[in-house]
Amino acid sequence: MTNSESGWEVRPLSPALGAEVIGPKINNLNDDQVKKLKELLLEHLVIFMPGQSPSPALHVEFGKRFGSLEGHPNLSSDDKLPREIFELKASKGGIADEWHTDLTFRSSPAIMSIMHIVKCPEVGGDTLWSSTYAAYDQLSSPMKDLCEGLTALHDAHPHNQPDQMAIHPVVRLHPETQRRALYINQHFTRRIVELSAEESEAVLKYLIGWISHPKFSVRYRWRPGTVCMWDNRCTQHMVLNDFTGERVIQRVTVTGDKVFGVKGKKYKPALNSDRLSAQSRHDRQLFMHLKNEDSSS
Ligand SMILES: [Fe+2]
Repeated sequence: MTNSESGWEVRPLSPALGAEVIGPKINNLNDDQVKKLKELLLEHLVIFMPGQSPSPALHVEFGKRFGSLEGHPNLSSDDKLPREIFELKASKGGIADEWHTDLTFRSSPAIMSIMHIVKCPEVGGDTLWSSTYAAYDQLSSPMKDLCEGLTALHDAHPHNQPDQMAIHPVVRLHPETQRRALYINQHFTRRIVELSAEESEAVLKYLIGWISHPKFSVRYRWRPGTVCMWDNRCTQHMVLNDFTGERVIQRVTVTGDKVFGVKGKKYKPALNSDRLSAQSRHDRQLFMHLKNEDSSS
């Protein structure tokens, strides 16, 4: 427990990431306080501010202090809400119970998400975050070296939009901290471009399991009215689907920029396109995406 110079109380929640910040009132922050929140976010990767209960309009206003906002590209929200607000209700299937970073199927995925938990069950429905910095840092040197030379294909299949795809480095460089973070996730990542389909499956399975190790994570129990912010460039998250009753969240996302890796491209895509065989179907999606990229560039 520490007191920052802002007078806020900062309570770290796990060694890997996460802190509660007690003191800020998000409806009344000066520029220095916004700067302080940005610094706290870079340090703790996910921060929680209980007792805020912002209206949708205030939520949007607060979000705009951190950059331009974008609505959800695929999932519809409530028409009565500002277009920047994306609302998820558990009763309508809104339970993100698989590890992911928001919107990685886009070429410039959201850099930050700001969520207000409007309604939550008395117990259950906790959210877990994982530090992809820590997951990268604790890989062995040969594994780091391998991952740094790879890119991966992400798609919006979970949103029934499999044609929305993007290729990103498997290790991304955080543009503000210059730290390295693993950048594949269970929900949206389909294939490592430079490995064969079989190799990709094995490596993705390993990395997805590794990132979900409890030592890289924090688990947060919600109270209605809490506002939470996380950095999508160095974290993943998932909701525990272990509750009954309603859980409602409202979220805004801050528009992202291009994802940069550590090294230039080292290897060619691993496609068996020379000779068609029964196994060619495993390469079809990657082949089509690369073909479309070629024709549009
Ligand atoms: Fe999410």
